[in-house]
Amino acid sequence: MAYGDILVAQGLVKSYGGVRALDGVGIRLRGGEVHALVGENGAGKSTLVRILSGTLTADAGTVRSARDTRIAVVSQELSLFPDLSVRENLFPLGPPRRFGLLDRGAMDRAARPVLAELGLDVDPGTEVGELPLSDQQLTEIARALLLGPRLLILDEPTSALPAAAVDRLERVLRALTGRGIAVLYVTHFLDEVMRFAQRVTVLRDGQVALPGARRADVDVPELVTAMLGGRPPQPARRTRAVVDLPPPVVLSGVDVPGRLTDVTFTVRAGEVVGVAGLQGAGHLTALAVVCGRTGISAGRVDVGGRGLPRSLRDAVRAGVAFVPSDRKRYGLMVDRAVWENTTAVSWLALGRGGVMPSRAELVRRSADLTQRLRLRGGPYDVVARLSGGNQQKVVFAKWLATEPKIVVLDDPTRGVDVGVRAEMHRIVGELAAGGAAVLLASTDLAELTEVCDRVLVFVRGRITGEVHGERLTEHALAVAMQQAVPESG
Ligand SMILES: Nc1ncnc2c1ncn2[C@@H]1O[C@H](COP(=O)(O)OP(=O)(O)OP(=O)(O)O)[C@@H](O)[C@H]1O
Ligand SMILES: [Mg+2]
Repeated sequence: MAYGDILVAQGLVKSYGGVRALDGVGIRLRGGEVHALVGENGAGKSTLVRILSGTLTADAGTVRSARDTRIAVVSQELSLFPDLSVRENLFPLGPPRRFGLLDRGAMDRAARPVLAELGLDVDPGTEVGELPLSDQQLTEIARALLLGPRLLILDEPTSALPAAAVDRLERVLRALTGRGIAVLYVTHFLDEVMRFAQRVTVLRDGQVALPGARRADVDVPELVTAMLGGRPPQPARRTRAVVDLPPPVVLSGVDVPGRLTDVTFTVRAGEVVGVAGLQGAGHLTALAVVCGRTGISAGRVDVGGRGLPRSLRDAVRAGVAFVPSDRKRYGLMVDRAVWENTTAVSWLALGRGGVMPSRAELVRRSADLTQRLRLRGGPYDVVARLSGGNQQKVVFAKWLATEPKIVVLDDPTRGVDVGVRAEMHRIVGELAAGGAAVLLASTDLAELTEVCDRVLVFVRGRITGEVHGERLTEHALAVAMQQAVPESG
């Protein structure tokens, strides 16, 4: 069934200072269609979203839509109030009231079907800040749906979502488009484009590299070519020599109450070891132990030859670099320059080497690192102005600056594009080749198979298997992660 145009934009231009974020961009969004918007980090996707939704004014160009077109946006950075309940967050325009009182019952009745549709099983009274990131993201989507939009814009909604939630989102989007709603769907996951979208627009350097092509007329390699402009892909290196030294990471018989049971593994210098598991399987707790962020109730731990780290700072002193998945919560001073961020850990937390380098030296080192990571922006740029993926590169750069012996990565490439992802993988390979021990968790199974020498599979707090060599495929990992553990003490 065909619906008409909901929104048509033409010739959009937007500059930030010297940076031309959009340079003559047009897009046509039709009712009943999911229109995917893809492009590398910094290509201009979020800028386009902001202009279409009216939160940013273009320097030139037009946006036409019917007068009463309600547009709801789920933005890339979460915008919920963490101290308020799910219920209060869902009704930003003022909750339903009865006799002047908040009508909780009415709110919950309105919210329940939407939450159920998204598979979000939470008590509406829960504070949003208490929820895991994936549930916060679903709450944000629920809030947008409750506005009853004609156009729904989702800016990278699945970067924090587990696979099952992505499946539900797919069903929800089908239901919405079935009612004639238009959806603009920004993502870095091209498999989602192929699954969800009827059309796709590719942006590259602020210009349209592929305009509203029908999904049936393109394939993934073509999309990648449009995104990268013919730049050849760089496969991660898989040949590594393990250094014959005492292993930098040793866990033996480790228990963490309610989270880990009898966990034993080592990571040798020069090795990249993955950890995989479903949500709550314990693989992330194992990383937390190595980073000094969780205590243990039994077993033995040695990190960098200094025993169990008692704090993140302690772990950093033992040579650990920790690249988290949540760049907002850990790690970035967004109102400071790139060089200040990249040097923050190396001189504040480490205090290695004694003498503080000069500011010019710090800036120079920062410039080296950002060049190595191909950051879009220089050492003096303020982090808040960088695109999401480029901010993640700064997190990476900051830890590389410490020249770590042990590198712990938790979903390091979530929300970054294929180009940056390949570059980060290359650097992980370089770190290992240089003798670092690398531990990697990722929600992206392909990443584990591409980067790791072997992957430890966690199920309900125990290591239930290890996958390596030829057997290290996404399929094998996914199957191993689903396997039930025998119920025994
Ligand atoms: N507020 C701002 N001030 C200065 N420059 C900005 C600002 N917002 C975006 N830019 C620049 O505009 C360009 C496009 O950024 P935008 O956020 O639209 O990219 P994106 O495609 O959404 O990237 P990502 O996938 O990393 O989220 C980038 O070069 C970015 O650094
Ligand atoms: Mg963006």
